[in-house]
Amino acid sequence: MAKILKINHIGIAVSDSETASSFWSNALELPVDHVEDVAAQKSKVTFIPVGGSEIELVQAMTEDSTIAKFITDRGPGMHHICLETDDILGMLAQLKEKGIRLINEVPLKEPGRLMAFVHPKSTGGVLVELYQVI
Ligand code: CO
Repeated sequence: MAKILKINHIGIAVSDSETASSFWSNALELPVDHVEDVAAQKSKVTFIPVGGSEIELVQAMTEDSTIAKFITDRGPGMHHICLETDDILGMLAQLKEKGIRLINEVPLKEPGRLMAFVHPKSTGGVLVELYQVI
């Protein structure tokens, strides 16, 4: 049985990562682990560890990225919550069987991880990312 292990990260849509990270890294004094270009999401992500989870500041790299659209529609702020699972394929099958609407029925592959998004219409308005370390 696929299990949810923990909150892996919380994604925050930002207009400018440098400005946004000053609250996290200067005021709260949480060090930035690294910054990564995520081509599949057309975004630049700043990873800030917090205990066993992370805050991810997500900045759009192109006008047509989903983050750019989100900021245009709703402004910067909380974008998604990411739940880590030990078996993303099993979890996607389980959710589908329970009638949950998936954005990605097949996981997206990034270096070191698989990820898939669950539609906010099925989660009470929260964009949920499923994530498996590979
Ligand atoms: Co994420």
